[in-house]
Amino acid sequence: MTITKAVVPAAGLGTRFLPATKSTPKEMLPVVDKPAIQYVVEEAVAAGLEDVLMITGRSKHSLSDHFDAMPEVESALEAKGDTDRLARVRKSSALADIHYVRQGEPLGLGHAVLRAKRHVGNEPFAVLLGDDLIDERDPLLPRMLEVAEERGGCVLALMEVPREQISLYGCAVVEQTDDDDVVRVTGLVEKPSVEEAPSNLAVIGRYVLDPEIFEVLERTQPGRGGEIQLTDALAELAGEDAAKGRGVYGVVFRGRRYDTGDRLDYIKAVVQIAVAREDLGPDLRAWLTEFTAGGME
Ligand code: G1P
Repeated sequence: MTITKAVVPAAGLGTRFLPATKSTPKEMLPVVDKPAIQYVVEEAVAAGLEDVLMITGRSKHSLSDHFDAMPEVESALEAKGDTDRLARVRKSSALADIHYVRQGEPLGLGHAVLRAKRHVGNEPFAVLLGDDLIDERDPLLPRMLEVAEERGGCVLALMEVPREQISLYGCAVVEQTDDDDVVRVTGLVEKPSVEEAPSNLAVIGRYVLDPEIFEVLERTQPGRGGEIQLTDALAELAGEDAAKGRGVYGVVFRGRRYDTGDRLDYIKAVVQIAVAREDLGPDLRAWLTEFTAGGME
């Protein structure tokens, strides 16, 4: 079955970025000249998923405004003959078929994904977390969709992280398959302590899920942080006594990923993405060289 739908949970409070996120959702913070959320929608569309459901919450109006047309600005740019900017503004409102549903209560990522049940129906779908930006030069989602289509079940994105960072992530226990970059996931723990972590393979924010996840989420009890965790529902599907399920696989990602929910990583994302751009890269590169040579003051 071809996968066509993407779900983007975007209801988080963005406390790590206060006070910037007092009145601006964290998903709207600019990474160079586009809000972080636009990169995520572009990634979904590039992988062929043009039906995007955003799970939002209070104070998130600017998200739907962003993906809407802006006729007054568009006609002003048209009148001025500013075709470049006009194209960029138009692109952001014609990207995808975007739908919105509110989470209601902030009961965790698993709860947010469950809010997609009615829209998604009985089809496999992708989940893209807005805090994780995957560099477009290192496509991950197309490979995950391919693995899901070949093997069925759920497919997670995994990445090796330094051991001391594993407690920020879902952590996977895996077995190698005959595909170099694909593992079978046999266990999952949400944000284990460094001592308890069964591996240094972290779940990063891309998932391809079988609709059987909804049924599991409906009975998943609050876990770490008192929240309904997607990791716990996936752990059930991955566990040995879940032989009825269709299995959970992981694609091991070795490309560039930025956690824009973390301030330092956010700054690195802006710099790396800007350096790669034709319009800004050459000048930024020259300035960075000068800046680092000068003792970085
Ligand atoms: C969520 C998931 C976690 C995953 C992480 C990836 O956590 O619960 O399993 O490793 O995203 O970014 P959050 O970062 O929302 O706390």
